[in-house]
Amino acid sequence: MTETEIEESIEAFAQAARRAREAGVDGIELFAACHALIDQFWTPWSNRRDDRWGGSRENRLRFSTEIIARIRKLVGEDFIVGIAVSMDPDAPAALSMESLQKIVAWHDTRELIDYVTCATDSYFDPHDLIPTFPYPDKLGPPYAEALKQAVKHARVQAESHIRTPENGDYAIASGQADMVGIVRGQIADAHLANKARHGRAKDIRPKDIRPEDIRPCISCNQLCWGRHRLASRRAGSRGDPGHAPADGRGRAGSNSADWALRQRLATLGVETLTDAAVSEWHGDGTTVVNLLDDSTRRVDCDALVLATINVAETTLGAELAGSDLEVHHLEDCVAPRRANNATFQGRKLGLKL
Ligand SMILES: Cc1cc2nc3c(=O)[nH]c(=O)nc-3n(C[C@H](O)[C@H](O)[C@H](O)COP(=O)(O)O)c2cc1C
Repeated sequence: MTETEIEESIEAFAQAARRAREAGVDGIELFAACHALIDQFWTPWSNRRDDRWGGSRENRLRFSTEIIARIRKLVGEDFIVGIAVSMDPDAPAALSMESLQKIVAWHDTRELIDYVTCATDSYFDPHDLIPTFPYPDKLGPPYAEALKQAVKHARVQAESHIRTPENGDYAIASGQADMVGIVRGQIADAHLANKARHGRAKDIRPKDIRPEDIRPCISCNQLCWGRHRLASRRAGSRGDPGHAPADGRGRAGSNSADWALRQRLATLGVETLTDAAVSEWHGDGTTVVNLLDDSTRRVDCDALVLATINVAETTLGAELAGSDLEVHHLEDCVAPRRANNATFQGRKLGLKL
């Protein structure tokens, strides 16, 4: 980046914060996590500059320091300015916790930030950036705990796989964090915080859940991250490298837990079909049904691996078959499918009706 580009970026960050304030929000969070731009300035692996923006720690931190100072000038003191950082111990190029503590302390000592939140992982290898169910709960709190040792003024927020109010309470009560962020938990149930406030945070078996209880996030990444990727794909952004497009339509991206595997399989000539079901095996190929539009096509192959865990639930459809009701069969009522297909098909039918 040239000096002019750096100046433009600093000003753009500051103006974005000003617009947020004018729009009536209470604060902003500066994204300095995951090896995005600000983190790239901080990290010696990516910041090879030998001018006043690189080299010493002070120089590498100049970009974020100037951004926040300029934001403060525009938004005043009565406005929350937080900073998001991340910890990725599996990536040798990423910052160590010790470096991150020093960086956070730098901003804290100068009273530039009101809070800091620490995500897990980075774009170097984002397998537990949005951790799926094989990962343990409460991934972020230990990092928050380490950052708490580095700050005197700022509040520290823990995030990543906290999921439930109980986990949040634990992270705060044990002193690991001052506050917690729950993202997918609140996508699964937008009323999570209010329900927790009213004591509905108890552990409930899924089959016993009533509308007034918290609907728990199961970390499947199907309808939040999966749909997000589907939308990005439709908007023309890059899809997963391991997903060979079969039908030209967008499809849910992998949740990144199997990213490395899919990449490797793609280089070996394996075609991964998602949103698809096999209707027939011919010995030297198969007929595949596209679950998004019900079209079929033949795929030549010498081996076929089926990955499916769902079972079609056809009981109700069968019971209603002889009735006077107008019955439409969708999704799991027809064949084993995924939740995002159900939403797609349900919406399509709803609009038609
Ligand atoms: C659909 C979706 C979109 C996300 N987009 C962003 C994003 O734009 N920026 C960001 O810093 N984190 C993003 N995240 C990551 C979350 O901020 C959070 O770190 C992650 O989901 C782990 O927290 P959780 O276990 O509470 O969901 C996104 C997560 C999801 C599920």
